[in-house]
Amino acid sequence: HLIIPRLKEVFHDSFRIGAAVNDFTLETREEVLAKHFNSLTAENSMKFVSIQEEEGVFDFSEGNRIVAFAKANDMVVRGHTLVWHNQTPEWVFYTDKDKTTLASKELLLERMTTHIQTVMKHYEDSILCWDVVNEAIEDKEGMRLRESLWYKIMGEDFIDQAFRIAHAANPKAQLFYNDYNESTPEKVEKIYTTVKGMLERGVPVHGIGLQCHWNLNNPSLTDIEQAIEKYASLGVRLHITEMDVSVFDFEDRRTDLLRPTEEQLELQAKRYEAFFKIFRAHSDVIDSVTFWGVDDAYTWLDGFPVPDRKNWPFLLDEKSEPKPAFWRVVNTL
Ligand code: XIL
Repeated sequence: HLIIPRLKEVFHDSFRIGAAVNDFTLETREEVLAKHFNSLTAENSMKFVSIQEEEGVFDFSEGNRIVAFAKANDMVVRGHTLVWHNQTPEWVFYTDKDKTTLASKELLLERMTTHIQTVMKHYEDSILCWDVVNEAIEDKEGMRLRESLWYKIMGEDFIDQAFRIAHAANPKAQLFYNDYNESTPEKVEKIYTTVKGMLERGVPVHGIGLQCHWNLNNPSLTDIEQAIEKYASLGVRLHITEMDVSVFDFEDRRTDLLRPTEEQLELQAKRYEAFFKIFRAHSDVIDSVTFWGVDDAYTWLDGFPVPDRKNWPFLLDEKSEPKPAFWRVVNTL
């Protein structure tokens, strides 16, 4: 009988192993969560729209369930996320129900403050780190910051403001800037410049979250390692926050696969092995590696970016059994 090692024990001396959870995985994957993971992130439950869909009405019920599960199983919780352009209700940015008039800078700042303070105080004793601002940087050449409504109304200062408010709400919390395409050289430069500026202005930012939504060919290992080293040179902590490795390339639009091919699984295993070698080589700055899900039964990549297409991006298969990638990762030791 083959003994399956626990990921959290294998990497105990390097970093925490996390999973993003939702109602489905929390209810059906209790055992595998307790076995392999020592950190949880809410896939959606702690986003602005989930907590404060209506102004002044706060609903912490889903988030509380995650926190309770984490406490019962000796896990930490990463808070995700306070200020983002997605999954934020429209009322936040307008003065009226018809959304004809944009909120003033002052009003938006007031709403940002209320939200951050209320959420961070509610989870003061249970959440040690927060993705305070998510995906504020532009992917396309030219602009550094994304032209979100946060940016349009408050100006580039909205990022500093969010971190200052968060720090005042809970000075013990570790505060992260989180983004995707985090290993693409041009975007690395912009993320680096943004966080460097914050540090120079004395803004309380303690870490960078690397989402790491990757696939079989992108990004390159060189780009990943250079990104990690560049961010680490700022003296901040690094978290891998949303890892998954799609079995499809960007160009691959196939929709007819019922299960992953041997070839895809083998390539995926090689990629995962190389990624974890890099993570382990930088475990002095990387505190946690979180997957954006638990096992292949459910992933947000089912149907994204190609509709009606299943994906298999994790180390555990649809029945939570180890895949080739699992064994390679475990053997990077
Ligand atoms: C995704 C969730 O997984 C989906 O269920 C939801 O419909 C959309 O958001 N970057 C992030 C995450 O920071 O919050 C996103 O999560 C995935 C991309």
